Amino acid sequence: MNKLIIISIFSLSLLSASQLTAEVKLTETLKAGKEIAQNICSGCHGVSGKAESGGNSGAVPNIYAQQRDYLTLKLKDYKSGKLQHPQMTMIAQMISNADIDNVAEWYSRIKVKIFDPEIELSEPGQY
Ligand code: HEC
Repeated sequence: MNKLIIISIFSLSLLSASQLTAEVKLTETLKAGKEIAQNICSGCHGVSGKAESGGNSGAVPNIYAQQRDYLTLKLKDYKSGKLQHPQMTMIAQMISNADIDNVAEWYSRIKVKIFDPEIELSEPGQY
């Protein structure tokens, strides 16, 4: 009897542990994209896509929540030389087309909440 209880508690905890990991498990694309973001892009765009001061942030665009196809297009244009920028052209040429797809997926999947400045200013303390 005791053994049975122990076994069922054990399998219950196994079940919840695997459910937990399943909830936070990134797809392979997102995992690979995040790795590129961390290793290559983060100094300027941050891992979240919010421009970092390391990249002289005033001149670096925020790229979170941007459309995936737009990010892919820009990166491929930098890679091919159609778009010329001293830093971005070089960086895009360092990474593969698969890296571009993965990192575009990562940044496009970061969600932000949009605040309308009119509402924000008319209701101080609201946000
Ligand atoms: C050394 C700093 C630096 C790094 C590292 C860097 N970027 Fe950039 N990125 C910039 C700057 C500066 C611009 C603006 C270029 C321009 O004005 O044409 C830019 C532009 C872009 C744009 C175009 C945005 C738009 O709306 O036109 C994309 C997309 C982008 N970066 C993605 C990336 C990705 C993905 C990585 C990593 C693989 C990366 N960048 C790494 C500095 C950087």
